Amino acid sequence: MFDLQKITRKNIWELKPYSSARDEYTGKSAVFLDANENPYETGFNRYPDPQQRELKEKLGQLKGIAAENIFLGNGSDEPIDLLFRVFCEPATDNVVIPDPTYGMYEVCARINNIKIKNVSLTTDYQLDVKRVLEAADNHTKLIFMCSPNNPTSNRLDASDLKEVIRGFSSGIVVLDEAYIDFSNQESLVAELDRYPNLVVLQTFSKAWGLAGIRLGMAFASKEIVKLLTKVKYPYNINIMTQQKALEALDRVDDKEKWVSNILEQRNWLEAELKKQQQVETILPSDTNFLMVKVKEPKGLYAFLVDRQIIVRDRSKVHLCMGFLRITIGTEEENKRLMEAMEAYRSKSISN
Ligand SMILES: Cc1ncc(COP(=O)(O)O)c(C=O)c1O
Repeated sequence: MFDLQKITRKNIWELKPYSSARDEYTGKSAVFLDANENPYETGFNRYPDPQQRELKEKLGQLKGIAAENIFLGNGSDEPIDLLFRVFCEPATDNVVIPDPTYGMYEVCARINNIKIKNVSLTTDYQLDVKRVLEAADNHTKLIFMCSPNNPTSNRLDASDLKEVIRGFSSGIVVLDEAYIDFSNQESLVAELDRYPNLVVLQTFSKAWGLAGIRLGMAFASKEIVKLLTKVKYPYNINIMTQQKALEALDRVDDKEKWVSNILEQRNWLEAELKKQQQVETILPSDTNFLMVKVKEPKGLYAFLVDRQIIVRDRSKVHLCMGFLRITIGTEEENKRLMEAMEAYRSKSISN
């Protein structure tokens, strides 16, 4: 049923990718006179491994999948952009994007001149499976789903995710799991074998505490990984990023400790915020942030900025009217936020 060649852009399917020096000779100790590098040692005078073999091996062991099912990019944003470039014919094809969700899917679609079919989430922030599948036509190449979802912070129903993946065999379903470490939801990485049209995205930017190194992961069939690899810049993951990620994979305990602290703080902050008369609703969160509906989003936002506490104003976003998005900070940072909330309340009373 699923025909990868049929949905891939012809020029990409036929593309002979650039073959770098390090693609052609992969051995270790040798006199390297093949890449026009500077021979003097700086720690960085050599090009990085274009295939990131060591990193993919180690990551594969952690995730329980083969290295050939892993694509690594400059943040998740790179595989998002590459998916458009591999599958979507500019000015002809379209993609289905639930609304609201992470903004980069739409921006990448626009950059690549791909039409967008937005399908609203339901009023309880779930996928409207029927409308998502009905929105797909002969020119739909990608359907995006983000679970747990940004900005609504909830996870999407697992059976709905699978229904969309099964129901859309004429294209690729991209499931963004950037926040999966903060959720009890099972990752679909374990089920990749069952779904040849599935691409799962994860990132080192959230639970791993490494937003600064820019490292995103796409997990998919080896055929899809090959297509993404053909199109990427030859040395897209630099040596420093590969080294930092390898170090992080040796310290999974740190990540788990951060996640558990963040979840504890999320509970604390939610309970404290609920006591504030300013707060109307807090959405159930499966992420490292809270979506908080407040009576005066503009006023509160500006008041917090004045105190150098920066949250994200999402109050004009579809289905999120009046909401501020608040990332969970350290215990001290969260206390500072609550002190500022108290100060805002006192100011409102005295006015
Ligand atoms: C849903 C989602 N996906 C991806 C990203 C970005 O990840 P990266 O830093 O790996 O590009 C974000 C960042 O906020 C996000 O919310």
